Amino acid sequence: MSITWKSIYNDILLPYMNSLLFSFTLKHHEKLKTDFVSKMTVIIFNIFAHGYDRAIEKIGLEHFYKPLAHISDSVEPPGKILDLCCGTGVSAEYLAGQFPESRITAVDISPGMLEKARARCSAFDNITFCEADARRLPFPDGYFDMVISLNAPPFVEEMLRVAAPHSSIFIVWTLAGRFASNEQVIKNFLSKWGPVNFQVEKIGRALVLKIMKQEYTDESC
Ligand SMILES: C[S@@+](CC[C@H](N)C(=O)[O-])C[C@H]1O[C@@H](n2cnc3c(N)ncnc32)[C@H](O)[C@@H]1O
Repeated sequence: MSITWKSIYNDILLPYMNSLLFSFTLKHHEKLKTDFVSKMTVIIFNIFAHGYDRAIEKIGLEHFYKPLAHISDSVEPPGKILDLCCGTGVSAEYLAGQFPESRITAVDISPGMLEKARARCSAFDNITFCEADARRLPFPDGYFDMVISLNAPPFVEEMLRVAAPHSSIFIVWTLAGRFASNEQVIKNFLSKWGPVNFQVEKIGRALVLKIMKQEYTDESC
């Protein structure tokens, strides 16, 4: 196997950056939940929207499809799915194809990213797009049967709120599997929400963090 700049970039640098970003969002998740960060996110991703699809196609969409296929195979077809921080709609499109009977709500704060997502997913009538801030989702408690978010800060509080009891929440970083944070870091991060059942898997290059939402019982105390 020959080592080229391209292979160093694709196989080491990009996965390393992806896992650094993942660890950063875990470590600084509180600081990422300010009005200032939300406003900057809109500005930055409205600009990124123009080249985002080209960039991820270059990396390889198979790195998205592999963990998404694994997740789809691991759940019963959900009635309602939330795709949080959906970006240009790669995951919403995939899930709409996998679960034609499900209703998918794809949320993002950036109108530019949502415009691209609408165009990508125009063939599907089971996706609704919604411009909203993941810090304050406009959905009632327990509304979704599955919640998923790819390559975005983990808005766990809202994810847990809008997920139905016994449903699953999937946080995916498509390239972070190789250099991912260890389970202890993730456990410390999640401990803020009390005893949370979770599982970390490496699927292809991706890191898949699955959180199982439990129903409250007297024994939960
Ligand atoms: C790196 S992109 C990932 C997009 C897509 N999930 C993917 O994997 O291709 C991060 C996305 O998160 C969105 N985002 C970040 N903070 C958000 C917030 N507070 N509310 C809603 N969307 C947010 C951004 O607008 C952007 O589209």
